[in-house]
Amino acid sequence: MYGLIKPFVFQLKPETAHKLTIKVLKMGVIPKKNAMKDSRLESNLMGVSFPNPIGLAAGFDKNAEAISGIIGMGFGFVEVGTVTPKAQVGNPTPRVFRHVATKSVINRMGFPNEGVAVFKENIQKFRGKSSSVNVPVGLNIGMNKDQIEPEKDYRLLIQEVGQYADYLTVNVSSPNTPGLRNLQNPEFLEPFLTALMEEKGALENNPPLLVKLAPDLDDGQIKAIAKVLLRVKIDGVILTNTTLDRPDVLPDAFANEKGGLSGALVKDKSTMVISKFYKETNGTIPIVGIGGVSSVEDVIEKMRAGASLVQIYTGLIYHGPDLPRALCKKIVEFLEQNGYNNISELVGEDHKKNNEQDGTNSSAA
Ligand SMILES: Cc1cc2nc3c(=O)[nH]c(=O)nc-3n(C[C@H](O)[C@H](O)[C@H](O)COP(=O)(O)O)c2cc1C
Repeated sequence: MYGLIKPFVFQLKPETAHKLTIKVLKMGVIPKKNAMKDSRLESNLMGVSFPNPIGLAAGFDKNAEAISGIIGMGFGFVEVGTVTPKAQVGNPTPRVFRHVATKSVINRMGFPNEGVAVFKENIQKFRGKSSSVNVPVGLNIGMNKDQIEPEKDYRLLIQEVGQYADYLTVNVSSPNTPGLRNLQNPEFLEPFLTALMEEKGALENNPPLLVKLAPDLDDGQIKAIAKVLLRVKIDGVILTNTTLDRPDVLPDAFANEKGGLSGALVKDKSTMVISKFYKETNGTIPIVGIGGVSSVEDVIEKMRAGASLVQIYTGLIYHGPDLPRALCKKIVEFLEQNGYNNISELVGEDHKKNNEQDGTNSSAA
């Protein structure tokens, strides 16, 4: 079906196509199906039950306005946002660019969103009418562009919408808000995350708190951040956001666009970061793997490197709304053919193999 309409969709500017997609999902014209279900795909992490491991990444539904339609695509969880306290318009357009030959996207959106008041109304509406939906919804929070005291914004967002979250994601890794990535600096990150863990701990539902990191971290930074995450007892980590890299294969006109690169070309880098974090934390912190996932092989690679769940964004642009369901079907086939009883058996498998081989090479990518 997507094959038929894709040429039309790709005639549109990326952001126009996206707005249209959100509208269609909101209208509910796509026949609704539930999350793809199979007991072998189910997992329980951070005290939350996930019907399948394929999630929608943050940035797709920034205002939490199309959650029901998105769930209808078969996702096992949905992350909405990034939301900021005040509404903001983001960077001037155009600010999203496709490079079809490499199945990549560059975006410098800069968190355009309608602000937490509208977001809260939308999530309340969803919770009101969909109390029986068993697909977890995560809320991704960020700071306004003009905020010079980041903690204030994140605390306020937790207070405002944390009660509606199956989990919360602290986004400190989008490259398009000046200074945001500096929050990953371990000396800042530790007191910052400690404060946010305390803030969410005060909520009645005490949702798990995850932090979303960039792929552009060197080994020293990964080691230091991993130690911080263990010390603050973070509930989970999302790896990764978009990259500032511009691989040689990209033509100059595209590569020169400012912003974060996503899709196939960030895949290996994000898998490597997952692998390193898994190793540094001994697999004790649940990892949500993201970056360039578009096939069952990509999902398995991320899980073997250490991810318990995966998310997709750019893959959806190039492969369409059938992707989550198709991935789930193929994962089940893979499990069946290879004698696994549940996807959790795949998680961190590369490291177990490497340990058996004397604990030497632990690289999973
Ligand atoms: C157009 C666009 C907007 C995005 N907006 C956000 C955002 O608001 N918050 C966030 O945490 N990540 C955002 N992301 C990053 C994705 O969630 C994801 O981490 C990244 O694109 C890598 O995954 P992918 O290769 O499957 O796209 C955005 C990505 C794209 C392409």
